[in-house]
Amino acid sequence: MKNTILVGPMGAGKSTIGRLLAKELRLPFKDSDKEIEQRTGASIPLIFDVEGEGGFRERERAVIADLCQLEGVVLATGGGAVLREDNRQALRAGGQVVYLCTSVDQQLERTARDRNRPLLQASDPRSVLSALMAIRDPLYRSIADVIIETDERPPRMVVTEILDRL
Ligand code: S3P
Repeated sequence: MKNTILVGPMGAGKSTIGRLLAKELRLPFKDSDKEIEQRTGASIPLIFDVEGEGGFRERERAVIADLCQLEGVVLATGGGAVLREDNRQALRAGGQVVYLCTSVDQQLERTARDRNRPLLQASDPRSVLSALMAIRDPLYRSIADVIIETDERPPRMVVTEILDRL
């Protein structure tokens, strides 16, 4: 059985929607960031502090390669997972890719009080999120089988649309 793989920016709702979708499909839920934290015993911010973004991306690559080998899981990926070509190939080969498309306004709203995302600790998170989207939106689209708008929509509604369209 194919995996269902959720991609999209920080604040798209990948973890919330992934968990609900997995429940509906009665499949295990996996989250690449959680897997990195389990393997290292360290939080994502600590990994960024100690190893830099480069170190984190290498750990992310290894985890994505492994998780994409599984069968019959719902997988939520970190927002930057699509940056590397090898990750994009693994994700495409790993299952059906769903892009949770989300405006910068919504991303900001959903991540406003978040201390767990090192890239958003800058003084101007709106500029950061806009710059990331300019680079990443084409990459999310390039591997997506299905693109779903999540703005102003509760997670359950998004899950229903994913189920309809897969
Ligand atoms: C990142 C997104 C985060 C996490 C890390 C880097 C990014 O995951 O992987 O902080 O580069 O966009 P979420 O998309 O689950 O917040």
